[in-house]
Amino acid sequence: MRVNFMRKFLYSLPFLLIGGWVLFTSLRTAPVKLNQARLILSELRGGDFTHAGDKEAIDMVLAKLKQDFPEALKGNCLDVGCGFGGTADYLMKQGFKHVWGVDVDKSAIDYAESKYKKVKFLNVDALSLSSQFDKDFFSFVYLFNVLYAIEDKVAALEQLAKVSAQGAILMIFDYSVADSSEPMLDLAGKPMRPICMKKIKQQLQESGWEVLEMNDISKNFTVWYEHLIKKLEEKNQSLKGHFLEEDIAKVSSTYVHILHHLRRKTLGGVLIYAKRI
Ligand SMILES: C[S@@+](CC[C@H](N)C(=O)[O-])C[C@H]1O[C@@H](n2cnc3c(N)ncnc32)[C@H](O)[C@@H]1O
Repeated sequence: MRVNFMRKFLYSLPFLLIGGWVLFTSLRTAPVKLNQARLILSELRGGDFTHAGDKEAIDMVLAKLKQDFPEALKGNCLDVGCGFGGTADYLMKQGFKHVWGVDVDKSAIDYAESKYKKVKFLNVDALSLSSQFDKDFFSFVYLFNVLYAIEDKVAALEQLAKVSAQGAILMIFDYSVADSSEPMLDLAGKPMRPICMKKIKQQLQESGWEVLEMNDISKNFTVWYEHLIKKLEEKNQSLKGHFLEEDIAKVSSTYVHILHHLRRKTLGGVLIYAKRI
């Protein structure tokens, strides 16, 4: 009986080993699915950006930074919530020397790493930056449409402060609301928690930042989203060749909804510059 069992086991051993190996490698290399809605945006925007205004918004920020804080740009720069990495790459092409990109979304980081070799990308949550980077490491930290996705803004800003040197510059470009409101859903179906204009100054101060400038860019946001929706309508047919209709419809409904709120002024856009105290 026992000999019989051993014989059966030995016969099946190669199959067990092969099966185990196949299972192991497929689990190890299984691709994390890329957010299709974001890929549609990249296609529409002609670059790997998921923020309002695409390159125009980055150029607007860079012009200001180059004029007012040129020294900060020479050190280590951190793109928090870098997504597909298009912005970090754009900065490298503008002459920045040391740019790191971090994002909590592993599939986005894998995509960015494979496409933009000059930037250093890491799959890190903004809420645990200080476990990955040395104290005082960065001279410039920026977030393009990211803080709205983080509920505990003070905790995130504190983390940014921990890895930034004294005098470092922080740039926040994001959705805003006058006061706290019911969260809307973003492209990934997650709640949007725009910057609350009543609280943000205090939140920055509490976490080690001094506000230098705060600009209302709601009108820019409205125009940028009008253009985006127009482009989406124009390119609808060609997009259908590459993407599922339900994904295209999701992008369209998300941005139509955002534009509706921008027009009603229940949502806005804000651009903030702050300095590490
Ligand atoms: C609207 S996208 C903007 C991406 C990029 N900044 C850009 O402009 O193309 C928001 C990004 O923030 C990232 N994100 C959200 N919460 C995060 C967190 N706690 N830590 C790091 N990244 C986060 C998301 O994964 C996503 O890639």
